[in-house]
Amino acid sequence: MSQPPFLSRPSVRLGLVACAAAIATILVLALYASVSKRKTEALQTSFRLVNLDEKTVDPAQWGKNFPRQFDAYQRTNERYTTKFGGAGSEGMAKSRLEADPRLVTLFEGYAFALDFNQRQGHAYMLLDQRTTKRVTQRPQTGACLHCHASNTVAYREEGIKQGAPGSLDEAFDSPHARQQLMAGFESICKMSYQDATKLVQHPVACLDCHDPRNMQLRVTKPGFIRGIAALAQSGEPTPHLPSIEKWRKGGGKEAYDANRDASRQELRSMVCGQCHVEYYCGPKTTLFFPWNKGLKVEQIESYYNDYKFSDGHRFYDWKHAKAGTEILKAQHPEFETWSQGIHARSGVSCADCHMPYVREGAIKISDHQVRSPLMDISRSCQTCHRFPEAEMKARVEIIQDRTHILMSAAEDAIVALIRDLDTARKAGIPEARLQPAMELHRKAQWRLDYVNAENSMGFHAPQETARILAESIDYGRQGQLSVKGLK
Ligand code: HEC
Ligand code: HEC
Ligand code: HEC
Ligand code: HEC
Ligand code: HEC
Repeated sequence: MSQPPFLSRPSVRLGLVACAAAIATILVLALYASVSKRKTEALQTSFRLVNLDEKTVDPAQWGKNFPRQFDAYQRTNERYTTKFGGAGSEGMAKSRLEADPRLVTLFEGYAFALDFNQRQGHAYMLLDQRTTKRVTQRPQTGACLHCHASNTVAYREEGIKQGAPGSLDEAFDSPHARQQLMAGFESICKMSYQDATKLVQHPVACLDCHDPRNMQLRVTKPGFIRGIAALAQSGEPTPHLPSIEKWRKGGGKEAYDANRDASRQELRSMVCGQCHVEYYCGPKTTLFFPWNKGLKVEQIESYYNDYKFSDGHRFYDWKHAKAGTEILKAQHPEFETWSQGIHARSGVSCADCHMPYVREGAIKISDHQVRSPLMDISRSCQTCHRFPEAEMKARVEIIQDRTHILMSAAEDAIVALIRDLDTARKAGIPEARLQPAMELHRKAQWRLDYVNAENSMGFHAPQETARILAESIDYGRQGQLSVKGLK
């Protein structure tokens, strides 16, 4: 009996089917692996067309590898208006002084009475600084550049000129690079603004927030590096920054270093905290962030009150032209205010709301068009909150309207106190007797300005903001009572 041909035998057929199935499975798996690998690659890089290193300042170079992020980054030049945000053309005066003339009275004797505008997108930061009357009509220092330019390379180059060891080729996290950065920062802070600004060309750039080797987030601004280390050194609880508490438990032999110690989620706020913070930046000492006692409004005030300039005088920004008070000027304390809110406590970062994920086909990227979250509520808020868009917007505006009413009451109180102090001074009441009222003025105006300079109109921490304004009104009216008692 002849056997059936080899390939027709049932056992062989079965084997063949199994082989084919196995090969097909392998092929499908291989394809899947390649697709998902490509998906991950797409997440990280598109294609490495350009080699990026610590010298690549120009964002257009980075844009060759990451065109989507670069496109969005460039769109920070688009203007928009929300009820309390942005700097769009309709609806809102660009000048904050024109929008609220009480500010001119509050800032009398200071450069802010000359020119104070709505903030706008990152694309404008260097231009707006170069052209403000606060710079063109008043002498300023190179310290201003800390937050208005990409200066990682400029600082290191200057540091090398000043004698710091090593070269620009060394990694940012090397000890040499750190020495270069800090030496250059100190030196540039002392220059005139006009000399210093020649050393930079770009607004905040990729290099300032990303490690060119692997695109990981990092902080590069010396003020933040020192400020956050000082905060870690304080005993102040930081439930929203768990890595600081962990560092303290570990004994903290080396200074806290965000690039080594912080989590990715923390860095998603810290990169913004490099600039959106209260700071001192004047001719008397190197720029610093006043966080040694904590991030609350009265802790910063207390640090300033204890701080002595080299001439022995206690800290102040300027003497009010009418009231004579040594005033503290507050600047955009977004990081500090966010720190006091429920979102920070819940682990929600600046980037979660201001750089939400956008899906482009199979790819999920972070929106580098940094702007108001109200421009894209579905991506910024509805990932966590299940209420309709209009409701989320209303919730923000309710908080902002309430804050605005309280803030206006505080402004009225302090403008009235300034008028009373001026009248008393003109009536010949000696400075020494006005001192208690002037101290109350200092406290009241510091709190009002802290909220006015903060750019969310209360949203980042509604109750904390209301508390600060209540104290401001109280100190302002107490000041008036104090002046009245003198007559
Ligand atoms: C839970 C979401 C959320 C988080 C977290 C958050 N913000 Fe905001 N932020 C907002 C909202 C809402 C506004 C108000 C926007 C408006 O009025 O158009 C705002 C306003 C701002 C503005 C003014 C925007 C404009 O258009 O004028 C700045 C600047 C800002 N935030 C910076 C920060 C920084 C820095 C952090 C982190 C330290 C942060 N925000 C954290 C939601 C958030
Ligand atoms: C290098 C400093 C720096 C860093 C880092 C930085 N900002 Fe800004 N930001 C600025 C300056 C300066 C402006 C105002 C520019 C102007 O008005 O010319 C600004 C403006 C803004 C605005 C207003 C935008 C508009 O169109 O009105 C928002 C919102 C904002 N920043 C959020 C953030 C967030 C969120 C981060 C972190 C992801 C961040 N910024 C990181 C300096 C910085
Ligand atoms: C610690 C970071 C930091 C430093 C230092 C800094 N700025 Fe800014 N600046 C910002 C941020 C953040 C904004 C956007 C938020 C805002 O406008 O409140 C801004 C906004 C501005 C604007 C646009 C809005 C306005 O106020 O008219 C000008 C102009 C400006 N800064 C000038 C200066 C000058 C001049 C100096 C030096 C005296 C300086 N900045 C130092 C962070 C900084
Ligand atoms: C003010 C800080 C800041 C600047 C400036 C900045 N980025 Fe980012 N970038 C971020 C943050 C925050 C993330 C989110 C990172 C995370 O969650 O790990 C991010 C993520 C990324 C990613 C990872 C994929 C993604 O989209 O989430 C790439 C790639 C990237 N950025 C490219 C760029 C390029 C290119 C530039 C310059 C044109 C740039 N970034 C400028 C803050 C910044
Ligand atoms: C990553 C998640 C996340 C995102 C994004 C987010 N939130 Fe929240 N939000 C929370 C959490 C968590 C709370 C605390 C309450 C809770 O646990 O449910 C909260 C609380 C709030 C509250 C109550 C605030 C208070 O002080 O009691 C408001 C209002 C709010 N969110 C609005 C917004 C808006 C508007 C946006 C977008 C700009 C936004 N949230 C984005 C998670 C988020």
